[in-house]
Parts: sequence; structure tokens; C-alpha cells
Amino acid sequence: MSVISSLTYSRITGTGSYLPPKRVSNAEFAAELAQQGIETSDQWIVERTGIRARHFAAPEVGSSDLAVEAARHALEAAGVAAAQLDLIIVATSTPDMVFPSTACLVQQKLGVHGCAAFDVQAVCSGFVYGLTVADSMIRSGAARKALVIGAEVFSRILDFKDRTTCVLFGDGAGAVVLEASDTPGVLATELHADGRHVDILCTPGTVAGGSVLGDPLLKMDGQAVFKLAVGVLEDVARSVLAKAGRSEADIDWLIPHQANIRIMQMTARKLKLDMDKVVVTVDQHGNTSAASIPLALDHAVRSGRLQRGDTVMLEGVGGGFTWGAVLLDF
Ligand code: ACO
Repeated sequence: MSVISSLTYSRITGTGSYLPPKRVSNAEFAAELAQQGIETSDQWIVERTGIRARHFAAPEVGSSDLAVEAARHALEAAGVAAAQLDLIIVATSTPDMVFPSTACLVQQKLGVHGCAAFDVQAVCSGFVYGLTVADSMIRSGAARKALVIGAEVFSRILDFKDRTTCVLFGDGAGAVVLEASDTPGVLATELHADGRHVDILCTPGTVAGGSVLGDPLLKMDGQAVFKLAVGVLEDVARSVLAKAGRSEADIDWLIPHQANIRIMQMTARKLKLDMDKVVVTVDQHGNTSAASIPLALDHAVRSGRLQRGDTVMLEGVGGGFTWGAVLLDF
């Protein structure tokens, strides 16, 4: 940890992502579910969500394993050694253990020790929350080189008898290296939560007295989530743009949480953005919760679409209810 000038900004210097090798297309999933008497189809899933496939981690693979793979790619892209990190933040709702944090497990698996490491729990907004915390710590001088990861094994908390939720989610991880910089970087951030809506998207069970207490599987009121998501994503985008003194026209890339193509289309329409400016990867991995934004970001970077200097709006929304946005010059 070191003290740095108040004019320090934070900047993303490397991105990485990782999807576990087992890819399950809608048709394969529908056939598997049909064997349990659950009816769904590729057509229903594509029309309502835009999802075409998801990846599922092997039973012995945890969020920390996916996180480490994504982290290695991000560190390599940034040219930063794990030993140089002074902060590791993992956003996850599917930690390997109750404790210690997945961030401490990632630190151990990267073969380093000593730097701060902790998890952020804001469900699908987790990466935006983690990035905002890391940006604040860098600007305050508490850190200079941070690794921010979103990693999930949502397959562990899915109810495969509930077709209204199990077709929507998948496993994966994405990561960025965020470093102190004389120029921005991150331009503005904003986070929100509204605990009045805890019930519309939750995994209510917990571990108590040596066993699982309550229902440990994901529950969602899809339509309530949809309505809230569309409203808050528009509001927080406008608010972050105003803070940064920018307008919708300045956005080169919108990278929203990858949950549902229809939410992304409605958000883009409200912000008067062409869909060509929206990074969409939900078709390839479904909703990977906290991993979805860094997965989409890394895809845009590695495919060559997103270039250095582009202005990018990251937007998260999820259980809690939580939401937030980060506007940055890449
Ligand atoms: N296959 C076939 N039929 C299905 C399936 C399925 N997998 N799931 C539901 N249906 C049926 C329903 O039973 C219903 O049938 P009925 O009319 O006979 O009762 C019909 O399809 C319509 O169901 P709705 O729930 O009204 O479908 P809707 O158009 O609202 O789409 C969806 C559901 C996709 C969940 C939508 O509400 C949505 O996307 N919500 C937002 C969810 C989301 O994005 N969550 C994540 C954000 S936060 C986070 O990431 C954690």
C-alpha cells in the first residue's frame, strides 16, 4: 500500500475470461430436461431470452478455479505479475466455501500472499460493485494494482425442475486488472440497492447446525425482475453520464449485465443507442451473474471490436435488488 496523489485515476490495463469446457446448447438442454418430464425448447429460450447455450462446470470445479483462469489471462494481458497485486476482489454469489472468501482462495491459487483480498456479494451487480470499490481504493491511494474478478458456478444453485429459471443461467468467470494511472480510466461510478425487493430474486437457504436450512435453490419472479431492471438501467446510465459530463452520444460501447437480450434491447432503445454499440454475449453463455460483464468486456476486447480510448458504459443489475454503472475510457 502506498500514498499517491489526489489526481490518480484508475484504468483497466488487461482483461481475461474463462468458460468451463462443457457447453450445453438449448437443444441438448431441452432433451436432457425432457427426460425429467420438464418441457422447454430452443425456440422458447431464444425468443424470450436470446440465450443459445450455457457452460456448466464439472462438479469438482469451484468459482475460485474459474476465477484463477480468467485472472491469469487478465494479468498476462496487462503485463502484471500476480506478486505485484496489492488488491484482489472477487464478486460472486456462489463462493467455494462459507469462508474463507473466494478471493483468498484465488490469491492462494495464484501463488501469492500478503495483498488485501475479499469478496463482494451483490449478485449480478457484483462486478460493477467490485470495480467501483477497486477504483475508489486506487484513487484514495490504498492500492495501485488491483485484480477484480466476477466468477460464478450458478449451476450449483439451479432448480433443474424449474424451467422458468434453470434455462437462464450458466457458469463462467471474467477479470480485469485495474491500475493507478495519471489519466482516466474510470470516469464515473454509481451504485444502488433496494432491499425492499429481496424476495423477487433470491437463494434463501443457508448452512446452520451442520445442515442446509431453508431452500438452497434460486427463486425468481422473472417479470418483476424484468420491469425493475429496465427502469434502473436507464436511470443509472443517465446519472453516471451526467456525473462525467458526457452524453449518450459519447458511448462507444454499452456492456450491460448479460441476462436477457430483451432487457438489453429496451435499455439501448431508451438510451437511443444502436444495438451495434451493445456488446452481447448472453447467447453464448446465458446469465453468468457477476461474471457476465467482464466476460462480455473481454470478448469485445479480444475480438478487436473494443479499442483503446473507446468510451464504455458497464451496467449491472441483480438480486438485492442491486444495480450500478461504471463509465470509463478504455
Ligand atoms: N420453456 C417453455 N416455456 C416456459 C419456460 C421454458 N423454459 N419458462 C416459462 N415458460 C412458460 C410459462 O410457464 C408460461 O406459460 P403459461 O403462459 O402457460 O403460463 C409462459 O412460458 C410465459 O411465461 P412468462 O414468465 O410470462 O414469460 P416471460 O415472457 O415473462 O419470460 C423470463 C420469462 C425470460 C424469465 C422473463 O421474465 C425475464 O427475462 N425476466 C428477467 C429475468 C432476468 O433477467 N433475470 C436475471 C436478472 S438479475 C440476475 O441476473 C440475477
